[in-house]
Amino acid sequence: MSTAVISRTARRRRWWFLWSLLALSATGITALFVPPYLHGSSAVPIDRAIVGYYASLVIHALPAGLTLIIGPWQFIPKLRARFPRVHRVSGRVYLISVVAASAAAAYAAAVTPSGFPLQVAFYMLIVAWLYTAAQGYRTIRRRDIQQHRIWMVRSYALTFAAVTLRVYLLAGQALLHSVDFRDLYTASAWAGLLGNVFIAEYFIIPRLLTPRARRRQTPAPGPSSAISPALSPQS
Ligand code: HEM
Repeated sequence: MSTAVISRTARRRRWWFLWSLLALSATGITALFVPPYLHGSSAVPIDRAIVGYYASLVIHALPAGLTLIIGPWQFIPKLRARFPRVHRVSGRVYLISVVAASAAAAYAAAVTPSGFPLQVAFYMLIVAWLYTAAQGYRTIRRRDIQQHRIWMVRSYALTFAAVTLRVYLLAGQALLHSVDFRDLYTASAWAGLLGNVFIAEYFIIPRLLTPRARRRQTPAPGPSSAISPALSPQS
């Protein structure tokens, strides 16, 4: 077997390993944190005396859980190619869910008793989540598949902040007994947001943006929106 074939197989395996990790953790966090809100309960202590707080968490958690579960499946090239209609419909459900979950989160963030630094992190997340989703929609309407891909990777990296936040929080609770819960929560939200943005750009810049810039410098025949194999198991 040639070295090229071996490295292709190794890349494909690594892609599937990372995808499985992403899909499993997204499904696991949704399964742990969302169902309590389906029957009037909650996964964390909630101050029910705050008007509309609990209702906003219910309206937020359900569509937000949907985005977390749908996301990983949208990135599988074979599924997109074989079932384009499914990709389109679930993509729309994802985008509508982002808007609904953001609107409810905006209220929850305004009334949360968790403090100003956490509120700033949540509002940044809300603005970035809506902006990346809007760009994902705008680029696909223009049929710019490469840019659509980049914006949807960015969007899902922000969605996935819900997972990393909770992983950091649980790890912090297990390891840092002397740190106050509110401080841990705030630090986890900031680390989840910034860490995911850096990781997403780390994948996007060399794999999607740099090859695109190189192609621009050396014009080749063919449509400009041709799909690059980068970020796919075939690459
Ligand atoms: C990425 C954009 C997101 C933003 C801006 C956001 C924002 C918020 C805000 C402001 C709260 C209230 C926190 C508090 O009162 O202290 C909250 C709670 C919550 N969020 Fe999100 N969220 C996002 C994504 C998600 C996702 C993808 C899920 C999917 C599981 C999710 C599930 C929850 C749940 C279950 C709660 C209630 C608290 C708990 O039980 O842990 N959120 N979110």
